[in-house]
Amino acid sequence: MPDAEVRAVSAVDDVLRGELLACWTDVSNAGGAVGFVPPVTRDDVAPVLDRLLEGVHSGRDVLAVLTVDGATAGFAALVGSSSPLRRHWATVLRVQVHPSRQGHGLGRVLMGGVHDIARTRGWEFLQLTARGGTGVDAFYRGLGYTEVGRVAGAIRVAPGDDREEILLLHRF
Ligand SMILES: CC(C)(COP(=O)(O)OP(=O)(O)OC[C@H]1O[C@@H](n2cnc3c(N)ncnc32)[C@H](O)[C@@H]1OP(=O)(O)O)[C@@H](O)C(=O)NCCC(=O)NCCS
Repeated sequence: MPDAEVRAVSAVDDVLRGELLACWTDVSNAGGAVGFVPPVTRDDVAPVLDRLLEGVHSGRDVLAVLTVDGATAGFAALVGSSSPLRRHWATVLRVQVHPSRQGHGLGRVLMGGVHDIARTRGWEFLQLTARGGTGVDAFYRGLGYTEVGRVAGAIRVAPGDDREEILLLHRF
């Protein structure tokens, strides 16, 4: 296993923004279920990334950034709740490992970092959704997540290709 680590990031400079954008675009074009359907360009992904970074820079949200031998290899976002009644909740979004690095245990490392960040911030509930038909819900079950429901047809990958959204929870 190469030298992998996950750090909490609350400020994203232009260099890191470029690395996150490249990763997200490559993951999407490899068929990853992170908000897009291939093909996408960096121009497609950039506005969605920048909206995500607004929440990070506001201090409410935080990124977990995975590096392997010092190079950015994946990331996930932890998005806090704006409700005063749900300050102990966060939503995990855009979980991804670069396609060149998948299948070697790094997703598990990334999510370990996500969980460390959640504990540090006092988040007791993590929620996330998985796209039906990808099998990725099994990845989360293996990390202690429990399925709490499915919404049939919630994700329209293409006309005539509706997928269910699988809702998963991890409680600390
Ligand atoms: C999902 C993702 C983050 C997993 O990272 P990874 O480095 O490939 O996963 P790991 O090698 O750490 O796998 C950990 C375990 O999960 C399992 N797993 C990983 N991806 C899986 C998948 N798509 N379906 C079923 N099981 C999966 C592995 O088999 C492994 O199981 P094991 O411990 O019993 O051997 C990565 O594949 C990815 O970025 N995919 C594209 C983006 C995406 O779809 N993200 C999900 C958003 S909801």
